[in-house]
Amino acid sequence: MVASAENRLTDDQLVAQVNTMIIAATDTTSNVLSRTLHVLSERLDVQDKIRQEISDARANLGEDELTYDMLMELPWLDAICRETLRLYTPAIELDRVVTRDTVLPLSRHVLDNKGNFIHKIPLAKGTNVTFSIYGYNRSKDVWGPDATEWKPERWFSPLPESAKMMPNGTVYSNIMTFSAGKRACIGFKSAKFEMKLIFFYLVEASKFLPTDDDIFWNASYVVYPSTLENKRGR
Ligand code: HEM
Repeated sequence: MVASAENRLTDDQLVAQVNTMIIAATDTTSNVLSRTLHVLSERLDVQDKIRQEISDARANLGEDELTYDMLMELPWLDAICRETLRLYTPAIELDRVVTRDTVLPLSRHVLDNKGNFIHKIPLAKGTNVTFSIYGYNRSKDVWGPDATEWKPERWFSPLPESAKMMPNGTVYSNIMTFSAGKRACIGFKSAKFEMKLIFFYLVEASKFLPTDDDIFWNASYVVYPSTLENKRGR
């Protein structure tokens, strides 16, 4: 409202921005925060490591305020964020429309439904293509045999060469969670900062234990949790 008339957004533009902030920014980040707490409630050993790391950071801070740089440098906090964003990506797939006739090369031969091996797929202009973020982030060809396990410690070692070969460059940690290329997420640093800040204060103040409720993670545009009646009768 303080901007000059020529720089001011119209109401329609403003509404479009709010939609982006709510769906692209809030649903994604809040659901992956929940997912991380769910995982941590089942991995008290890792939760203790983070709590110790936070407590040491707090001792170093003394009377000083927590800074962005200090928060970003906490190794276990960083590793649990990367690993949860990899294994439990909030957005599981993306869609694109092919803008010109092209051929999609495959990284290895696959058997088609007529029994032939194929190594490329012709795509006509206008074809809708859905590709799986989830599949890439969990691929054993890319991440190794333990790809489907939640192992934050993998981020303390160099990544496998296969995870460094992503054409076009993912924006974050060689994972597809925030997509890649020129339409990749513009908010990934904001999401990472938000996650770490929230965990810093939550894990410092509270211990997260498993719930008696069964928690289901629903595949939707953004993966979200829900509970049913406690089936275990506890
Ligand atoms: C864990 C949190 C987040 C995840 C997993 C995520 C994931 C993604 C993905 C996969 C895309 C590509 C969508 C597509 O190509 O169809 C995207 C785009 C986008 N994200 Fe995020 N995002 C997150 C947080 C945020 C935040 C915090 C913001 C804003 C502060 C944000 C703003 C945007 C915007 C504006 C785009 C569209 C970029 C473009 O098309 O040029 N995202 N995000």
